[in-house]
Amino acid sequence: LLYRDGMLFHRYPLVTTDANKLEDQAQKVLKPTSYNYVAGGAGERATMDANRLAFRQWKLIPRMLRPAPHRDLTVQLFGKTYATPILMAPVGVQTIFHEDKEIGLSSACAEIGVPFILSTAASSSIEEVAQANGSGTRWFQLYWPRDNDVTLSLLKRAKENGFTALVVTLDTWALAWRPADLDGGYIPFIKGVGNQVAFSDPVFREKFLKKYGAVPEDQILQASQEWTSDVFSGASHGWEDLAFLKQNWDGPIILKGIQHPEDAKLAVEYGCDGIIVSNHGGRQLDGAVASLEMLPEIVDAVGDKLTVLFDSGIRTGVDIMKALSLGAKAVLIGRPAIYGLAVGGKLGAKQVLQGLLADLDQSMGLAGIHSIAGCNRSVIRKVHYGG
Ligand code: FNR
Repeated sequence: LLYRDGMLFHRYPLVTTDANKLEDQAQKVLKPTSYNYVAGGAGERATMDANRLAFRQWKLIPRMLRPAPHRDLTVQLFGKTYATPILMAPVGVQTIFHEDKEIGLSSACAEIGVPFILSTAASSSIEEVAQANGSGTRWFQLYWPRDNDVTLSLLKRAKENGFTALVVTLDTWALAWRPADLDGGYIPFIKGVGNQVAFSDPVFREKFLKKYGAVPEDQILQASQEWTSDVFSGASHGWEDLAFLKQNWDGPIILKGIQHPEDAKLAVEYGCDGIIVSNHGGRQLDGAVASLEMLPEIVDAVGDKLTVLFDSGIRTGVDIMKALSLGAKAVLIGRPAIYGLAVGGKLGAKQVLQGLLADLDQSMGLAGIHSIAGCNRSVIRKVHYGG
């Protein structure tokens, strides 16, 4: 694999290897509204900050004299073997970050064996991404429409186009109070650039045209915004509604946005295959607990009954090790890959993901860990000195 051979000493032509500088690098090339959308969070960003601080409160305990020239990064998820323990998180409206958008990023992911999760709010269609991702692994993330006909159509297209798992995002049935986006006028949403999945859907289109009639071209985006904010609102869903998704999807169903151990238990009770412990990267309920803080408790509650995945706040290979050591089976990478996309398009995003994998591989070696199974609670400790 590319990240193993020479990657550590490879000069990165496009993106910085310093996790703390990547965001600044992206800021230089992005329009302020796009930068605010990706780098921002909800409220006063208390949860975003907590996500990072929580990683600092766990430290690894390395072992010595355990030569490990080759680390095995493979993991088993839902009965399949994956080359690495990272997945590309669903991130919408990628056209506002780079013209390569979801097409470029999903193709980069295929080249390095990282599963790509396509957002319902994407600016590329299900079919386009399937083609770009080719023989790669792809999952579909559902912002769950209230309209069952639209849901069924999206699931059918995802299935027909080789998306093997369904990620149902639960924490975004309404958009949070996000000051930077509110002050900037939510430009990406008003422009409707995240509507490609919906607008390329025949059922959605038919309903849209029925409701709005022939909408003049210059008004279509405004109309689409009103329509999507109605359709892509999960306000009315409850746990019992999951039966509908189970009946209409034959692959694994993974609930994204779980933070409470009781909700994790409900996910088991309602027959879900996996959960993603996540607070949406601090973009939804500000003041919510750090995602990492809840991970061990959730793993203790349900870890033997379903697959626990994790995201929110991962910036380095060591962060990945920490989440895995606390019981996550794999992790999703959000903002860092998008900063890479902004800076260098498809190649920039690929370099960020490869860099994370190289860092993970090297850090595991330095900790005396040979395989992902070696990332467990015996190598991690909670500390109280911060920093
Ligand atoms: C997201 N996220 C997200 N999640 C989702 O389920 N559907 C989506 O469309 C989006 N869109 C989105 C856009 C942008 C710009 C960001 C930064 C994030 C959340 C994402 O999947 C993931 O949970 C977080 O990004 C993880 O946190 P970090 O790694 O960014 O800190």
